Amino acid sequence: MPLKQKVAGKLISFEGSEGSGKSTQISRLAAHFQKTHREVVSTREPGGTEIGEQIRNIIVHNSKGDEMCAETELLLFAAARAQLVREVIAPALTRGAIVLSDRYLDSSTVYQGIGRNLAADPVAQINRFAVGNVMPDVTIVIDVPTSVSLARLKQRASDLPDRMERENLDFYTKIREGYLLLAKGLPGRFLVIDGTKTEDAIEKKIWAEVSARLA
Ligand code: TYD
Repeated sequence: MPLKQKVAGKLISFEGSEGSGKSTQISRLAAHFQKTHREVVSTREPGGTEIGEQIRNIIVHNSKGDEMCAETELLLFAAARAQLVREVIAPALTRGAIVLSDRYLDSSTVYQGIGRNLAADPVAQINRFAVGNVMPDVTIVIDVPTSVSLARLKQRASDLPDRMERENLDFYTKIREGYLLLAKGLPGRFLVIDGTKTEDAIEKKIWAEVSARLA
């Protein structure tokens, strides 16, 4: 399905390693926008639609997941995203909503491209095909040192780490560096936030920067 040009709404994506504190900051940013009486739609990747949740289960919780090749992983993430864009994000933007996405196409660029060493060109093409013209207006990378993100992961109450979280220190270092490199190349879209500050300080910084950029 071709996507029409998006209007009035704004798409803000959140990126970063696991344990970077994205979900807390997404709720806090949503609360700021709600006070301005804007419609706010929060989505998460992979998932956010029924089809996407099924795909997410295959990727993240499949016990034999270790055998999944990087190419399959990329295509499954892209498939979930294509569905989310057409079913949820594009209609919300057309209504004029603020859409806050917990991960978006940059996750594939960094995790599958840089983390799993897939060539940059096909990853970029598949990303573009999946999202059509629905690109984020602002992308917030919450940056934390790898040691901090791994320590936070270990503290999480969940019993067994899921497949993606079993990756090693080197992998997460590559992910962190990948995001920083991407952000450096696209300073107009990206905003890198120091995730080691307090939650309140991060919230304040994000709100100040986002309102200035969207003004
Ligand atoms: P999940 O537990 O849903 O989210 P998070 O870690 O952001 O709280 O796990 C999603 C995992 O999938 C996470 O390790 C990042 C990874 N991922 C990719 O590798 N590529 C992608 O395109 C996306 C959207 C996620």
